[in-house]
Amino acid sequence: MIEVLRDLKRRGQPIVMVTAYDYNSAVACEVGGADVVLVGDSAAMTMLGYASTRLVSLDEMLMLTRAARRGLERALLVGDLPYGTYEASNELALATARRFIEAGCDAVKLEGGREDRVARVRALTSAGIEVMGHVGLTPQSTGVGEAFRVQGKTASQALEVLAEAKALETAGVFAIVFEAIPGEVTELLMPHIEAPVIGIGAGPAADGQVLVFDDLVGLTAGKPAKFVKRYAELREEMARAVSAYAEDVRAKQFPTVSNAYAVDAAELDALRAKLSSQA
Ligand code: KIV
Repeated sequence: MIEVLRDLKRRGQPIVMVTAYDYNSAVACEVGGADVVLVGDSAAMTMLGYASTRLVSLDEMLMLTRAARRGLERALLVGDLPYGTYEASNELALATARRFIEAGCDAVKLEGGREDRVARVRALTSAGIEVMGHVGLTPQSTGVGEAFRVQGKTASQALEVLAEAKALETAGVFAIVFEAIPGEVTELLMPHIEAPVIGIGAGPAADGQVLVFDDLVGLTAGKPAKFVKRYAELREEMARAVSAYAEDVRAKQFPTVSNAYAVDAAELDALRAKLSSQA
């Protein structure tokens, strides 16, 4: 896995990563040619309707992960360790990460690059589990109802992002997500980082890009974040389809003969005869 992404970075070929949370979204990522699929804890908000990524449980994440696994053949699958399931100790992080590997992940991702998180990464990589880091905006550090904020806007904050990325790199991460960092800052930091950097709201200088599936296909409600590019408007399309179906059913336009199963006329006659003899 490390080699595939390192090779893409070496060749200057941008890495394509997308989140997926179930069988259908994973198939779309596979067929669409994503290199990496992340079962992100953004599932909390996109799939499950929670107000924060902090609220998704480990069992919920594992169920979504197994579904995504069934839709993938070639793309690498990364599972996002949810809030509260890895921070407290290396043992807890290992137990949680192993459950994601059992669910079919090739690697796990965890948020943050301070000392304790670096220790968790070291424990996981020493146990042979591949880890993706995540610095800059880390949504799990954002409380329920708090706004997500751009990171690395001052020189000292930007150096902090770099220090965290370097510490994660030394601990053995195979790639690092940079979230919500000004593009020019990413550009300045890139030459100092060897591991592939995958950006979301971090400008074009990163080695690859990741988007949340629901943002990309237009399933997310409301105005998208500045860094999002929508490639479809599926939320509107889905509501339009259900509304057209509802209209058809109410107008008795569905189902028609073409939607119904046929039956032999002789069998129908026999049924009629039996029903009338019973009456
Ligand atoms: O949970 C998620 O979707 C993520 C991506 C934004 C990288 O962590």
